[in-house]
Amino acid sequence: MNTPRTFPRTFPRLYDDLAHLWPILSPPEHYIAEAAVLRGLIEKHFAGSPDQRQSVLELGAGGGHTLVYLADDYDCTAVDLSEPMLANCRRLVPEAQTVAGDMRSVRLNKTFDAVFIHDAVDYMLSESDVKQALETAAAHLNTGGLCVIAPTYTRETFIDGEVADDGTTTDSQELTYFSYVHDPDPADDTFEMILLYLIRENQTRAVEVIEDRHTCGLFSNAQWLKWMGDAGFDARHEEVDAGVDEPWSLFVGSNTPSS
Ligand SMILES: C[S@@+](CC[C@H](N)C(=O)[O-])C[C@H]1O[C@@H](n2cnc3c(N)ncnc32)[C@H](O)[C@@H]1O
Repeated sequence: MNTPRTFPRTFPRLYDDLAHLWPILSPPEHYIAEAAVLRGLIEKHFAGSPDQRQSVLELGAGGGHTLVYLADDYDCTAVDLSEPMLANCRRLVPEAQTVAGDMRSVRLNKTFDAVFIHDAVDYMLSESDVKQALETAAAHLNTGGLCVIAPTYTRETFIDGEVADDGTTTDSQELTYFSYVHDPDPADDTFEMILLYLIRENQTRAVEVIEDRHTCGLFSNAQWLKWMGDAGFDARHEEVDAGVDEPWSLFVGSNTPSS
């Protein structure tokens, strides 16, 4: 399936003309443990609150691979920059509201009980990007609500040269991918994730090799906490078990009435 590209070349192809690969390459099952952690945080935060269905906003919700595990119990809204990713989300989580927008600037003119920015926050490349995204989160959170920011890596958890690979077969294709993360310039605030996709058509047995380079932000725990504080959150850092070798670093905040 070929979809015309809709973004400048610097936008990762995985979220653009190759967005149809997302559910195959990073299937919803990969998000079960992380969604369970987020659910646990919501339950803990709202324990003792009046019994009502909470509303959840995910900024950069992609294909909805987290929201699909929350949508039965929460009213979910998905914002993403990429329309092809939101189309994936609508197929997987039809009950979620979807809105195209940039997490640095979108304003929905409504507020939610919980706001998440999960792995999409990796695409915030500078202090200015992060601060704008956190201001968006703050602008959409009810007073006393829950905000969770979950970058894939922080400076403290980054593994330079980490390699991962996986593969899967559909009726028409065999997809193999490799990912490699590295930090070309430790003095700046970014790292690069290089993805290679090998797509073999079952019928022709021809293999197409596609390289997709993603530039991502890399910040320290102290920076995340400082910037969450600047955005009005009373924030803490938590390291939780999300079913992989390394603990998952989360930045969890609330906007108390006095903040
Ligand atoms: C790793 S994917 C997110 C996957 C998602 N957690 C899921 O459950 O499928 C990263 C997403 O961030 C989105 N993104 C990148 N920059 C963004 C921005 N400035 N505003 C909103 N979304 C953005 C991409 O379009 C992509 O869908």
